[in-house]
Amino acid sequence: MVTMDTLVSLCKRRGFIFQSSEIYGGTGSCWDYGPLGVELKNKIKHVWWRDFVQQRADMVGLDASILMHPTVWKASGHVDHFTDPMVDCRECRHRFRADQIDEIPWIHYCAATKGNKFTIPAGEACSHCQARRSLCPDCGKGELTPPRQFNLMFKTFMGPVEEDASVTYLRPETAQGIFVNFDNVLQSMRRKLPFGIGQIGKAFRNEITPGNFIFRTREFEQMEIEYFVNPHETVDGRPADEYWHDRWIADCLAWFQRYGLQADNLRLHEHARDELAHYSKRTADVQYRFPIGWSELMGIANRTDFDLKQHAKWSGKTLTYFDEERKEHLVPFVIEPSAGVDRALLAFLADAYREEEVRGEKRVVLRLHPELAPVSVAVLPLLKKRDDIVRKTHAIREELSRQCTAVYDDTAAIGRLYRRQDEVGTPYCVTVDVQTVGDTDKGERADDKVTIRDRDSMEQIRIAASRLATVVGELLAGKRWADVAAGVAAG
Ligand code: GAP
Repeated sequence: MVTMDTLVSLCKRRGFIFQSSEIYGGTGSCWDYGPLGVELKNKIKHVWWRDFVQQRADMVGLDASILMHPTVWKASGHVDHFTDPMVDCRECRHRFRADQIDEIPWIHYCAATKGNKFTIPAGEACSHCQARRSLCPDCGKGELTPPRQFNLMFKTFMGPVEEDASVTYLRPETAQGIFVNFDNVLQSMRRKLPFGIGQIGKAFRNEITPGNFIFRTREFEQMEIEYFVNPHETVDGRPADEYWHDRWIADCLAWFQRYGLQADNLRLHEHARDELAHYSKRTADVQYRFPIGWSELMGIANRTDFDLKQHAKWSGKTLTYFDEERKEHLVPFVIEPSAGVDRALLAFLADAYREEEVRGEKRVVLRLHPELAPVSVAVLPLLKKRDDIVRKTHAIREELSRQCTAVYDDTAAIGRLYRRQDEVGTPYCVTVDVQTVGDTDKGERADDKVTIRDRDSMEQIRIAASRLATVVGELLAGKRWADVAAGVAAG
């Protein structure tokens, strides 16, 4: 498994992810997506939206605002419950989550070895004096304050006056934008249960201990679905909410595998009773084997009718559904598959990373799914001194760019250009050479063919330039390289 340091360094070097405000020393736990990172992120969001919103007859989309009425957060329980217990070191002033403090290595000045300083692995005792951690794990000297509850929402002010009446929050989840629009969508789209509303957008949490690159940040993006079901119905002999919960868990696991995550690196974690959020009847996390170990990639919760009932109570509006068959008004139950875009991106990168040996040399390759790769096709001239080759290469790139992300590069020899594209996951490279355009000095006619190289097998095939757009389209739509190659060989 690739280390986090290797990924962080690759991401910076190759323009995926930069530290936010780096020239000013960086902003804690905020990251900027560079030219390749934004392509990868947009493609993850695009396939998620296509697969879960556009292609399903039971789904619609929404894009709610980040700033909402402050009462939303009172009703949702975030003002009162969205807290983590924190402790502070009285000496070095570092702040920790009280419930995670034993999960980090700790500094210890050991009395049994004349006060020598040791770094002791998380949760373990000193092997010399058997002491367990009681002081600050970072400085090893300061007493810790008793735990205090710390609300994770970012407060801000709406309008020009900074007073209590104008306080609002940056949304800590996109979900509430969906709940408060439930009736708008129901009425305008004439939906029948079960149906879902999907949304992708930014969320903000003032995490006490952010870290591990883009795994836990204070500004991140979520891809969330609220799937409304009739709690009085049964499907396959089971209550509809329980049936749909399992269906969504299976669909989400299959989705991550479809885009490249290995089954061995995915597992489910069922929340124990005391772990459940205040609104949840059951929550299952999809965990991924990140470079930091098994951790949450997404959560799939049964939020029951909690949110709709709360918003009905606090807003005074009716948020019910009329069941024509039973002639009754009811409050739907909600199944919520909620994934982090940034965590998905980190998982796709980690799973795709390979170091291979090719003819005695190390090759770093990102085996990203072709639909996710930041660059779909790199179009490369074999001789940059020949104007006709360069012109043809630019023309091909321009044509391909109408259907996918295509780049031109002539800044190195071809072998090095291939390696650079492998390292950022480009599934196909196209080269234009002398045969493509011909050589009038030597009396050689143009064959108008180009070479396509496959990233994973490194095989090459030569096809007519006029067929390139079709072949690239087929490959990006999922046709196997071996089938394309066999078709070309068969003429
Ligand atoms: N609406 C439900 C909800 O927000 P959550 O488990 O708190 O549930 C859902 O968040 C997903 O959002 C997580 O599984 C994770 O992928 C992502 N996420 C949450 N907090 C994050 C953070 N601080 N940084 C990056 N991603 C985060």
